[in-house]
Amino acid sequence: MGVAVSPRALQTDEAGLIVQQFGSMTAENAMKMGPIHPEENRYNWAGGDSIAAFAKRNNLKLRGHTLCWHNQTPRWMFTDAKGDTVTKEVLLQRLKDHITAVVTRYKDVIYAWDVVNEVISDRPDEFYRNSVWYRICGEEYIARAFEYAHAADPKAILFYNDYNEINPVKRDKIYKLVKDLKDKGIPIHGVGLQGHWSVYEPTEEALTATLEKFKGLGLQVQVTELDISVYPKEHGRRERKPEDADAAYTTEREQKQIQMYDMIFRVFRKYKGTLTAVTFWNISDRSSWLDNFPVPGRKDYPLLFDKDLKPKKAFDEVVKF
Ligand code: XIL
Repeated sequence: MGVAVSPRALQTDEAGLIVQQFGSMTAENAMKMGPIHPEENRYNWAGGDSIAAFAKRNNLKLRGHTLCWHNQTPRWMFTDAKGDTVTKEVLLQRLKDHITAVVTRYKDVIYAWDVVNEVISDRPDEFYRNSVWYRICGEEYIARAFEYAHAADPKAILFYNDYNEINPVKRDKIYKLVKDLKDKGIPIHGVGLQGHWSVYEPTEEALTATLEKFKGLGLQVQVTELDISVYPKEHGRRERKPEDADAAYTTEREQKQIQMYDMIFRVFRKYKGTLTAVTFWNISDRSSWLDNFPVPGRKDYPLLFDKDLKPKKAFDEVVKF
């Protein structure tokens, strides 16, 4: 069981909760390309290093997140000194340099990397996301990223990671991407299902179908970013509406959340041979990225610990079986 952390959280009382309740951590932002590699010739290791040191000191496993993503990329990555868009050759070299530096730095502590994140399109009529990576390189950067990571740390377990994996259309595309990479002999060892779900989804059938499908790959599966929003799921950012003011953790929302956590962990346990880790995205309801996504300033309550770091009722459902 893992948890996404910031360097700052490790200086607060949340640190004690992490050590007491979790066996693994992921850096929520500190190891992403923008934060860790803000300029071509400058890395900002401070945040990543403090998380890595905490993991070592407290005997926690560490997942690396993430080496190639369309969000939180540094501005310099796609342009040259004149401000023109770089060629595919230049971009792949930059990707290689980045991955080699970051994976090498943490190879003594990180056991698994989310190498490539969210490259599948949410649109039913489109396979790959139309990102800057894709527009410059075509699909080639995906395979290359895995090769660069594997060369830098041959022991690391390398994951493809994505969200809305419970949607049958997107799920099939993720499956095809990973299967094709595997069949081509690209070093890919697992698929990460983010698990940004809600009290309304997934259904037991959809979750079972998802795990069953990915089990068929014969690779590891990890749930990498679990949270259960109390609101209907929306995957795109939007403006606040008047009805968003209804943001209390009501008994009704609490009950629905208890049932959802109970169901998903029941299903997870059925797949314990395939599912090798479950990581929560944030520590407690004190602060979650969902407080500002998809709606800015709408408080959410997606985790197993409340704002005082006390276990919620849903926690009991998860640990009692
Ligand atoms: C989120 C972080 O939690 C936020 O703090 C940040 O502002 C944006 O990114 N999918 C991912 C994660 O793979 O990296 C994202 O994390 C959440 C969605």
